[in-house]
Amino acid sequence: MARFDSRYAAVTGAASGNGRAIAEKLLEQGAKLAALDLNTKALDEVFGDNPNVLRIECDVADEDSTRNAMAEVAQEFGRLDVLVNNAGIVKFGTFDELSREEWDQVFAVNSTGPFLVSREAAPLLRAGNVKHTRAIVNITSVEAHIVISSSGHPQIHYNASKGALLQLTRALAVDLASSNIRVNAVAPGYIRTPFTAEALKDEEVQKFLLDRTPLGRIGEPEDVANGVAFLASDEASWVTGSTLFVDGGWTVY
Ligand SMILES: NC(=O)c1ccc[n+]([C@@H]2O[C@H](COP(=O)([O-])OP(=O)(O)OC[C@H]3O[C@@H](n4cnc5c(N)ncnc54)[C@H](O)[C@@H]3O)[C@@H](O)[C@H]2O)c1
Repeated sequence: MARFDSRYAAVTGAASGNGRAIAEKLLEQGAKLAALDLNTKALDEVFGDNPNVLRIECDVADEDSTRNAMAEVAQEFGRLDVLVNNAGIVKFGTFDELSREEWDQVFAVNSTGPFLVSREAAPLLRAGNVKHTRAIVNITSVEAHIVISSSGHPQIHYNASKGALLQLTRALAVDLASSNIRVNAVAPGYIRTPFTAEALKDEEVQKFLLDRTPLGRIGEPEDVANGVAFLASDEASWVTGSTLFVDGGWTVY
């Protein structure tokens, strides 16, 4: 029996990078999956012919869009066992030049998005008569805990938005515990995805990252997916409000 047999999961930002790897890991381990993303073309390309995947166009920053997405999940699945709030964006810029508009944009996707999706998903995470614990896993970042500014690209709004998501994780862990819904975070370090592709082309950045990472390699999306699968599974049934660092040791070095 696979870990997520007969379980229903939803992953935001499922069409690329970490989200795609998380979605594929949950599917591989038996889940039926709602793949949510803004980019429907990419969703079709990645999951087009998979009968276990419900592809849903969703902008996590838009309240109506999250409501409609979860209504579709309710209609097709009837309940949810796992929600992964993965969709996120990064913008670079110095503090002096940071516009209010860009600050709001980053917060809307990285912090407000997980709040909206979790709120719409909560009734589904409580629905049905099941014995196992349900789980929300939020993808934060080491940048919620420390400030790297590694590649010469300050990202104050990204740091702040991921810090908010970290505290949302802890607050929801307390709030949803009585419903037997666990809420945890995975904090990735530098992972090789389209998100970081540009920065990783720079050899100096690569060298800086490798020198600074005790395990001596750049992370892969599957590293993040493995952490998520653990926190979403029954093996983590007494784990809530915590953060699993998937960073090759970056934050302890
Ligand atoms: N790549 C890294 O090094 C790294 C490190 C730490 C944390 N993270 C986090 O991992 C998550 C995924 O990052 P990634 O590197 O896979 O990025 P990515 O750009 O490869 O993928 C992000 C996906 O999210 C989707 N998306 C963006 N905005 C959305 C919205 N408003 N609504 C719905 N979907 C939306 C995109 O279409 C895309 O498919 C993010 O939350 C990011 O902050 C990444």
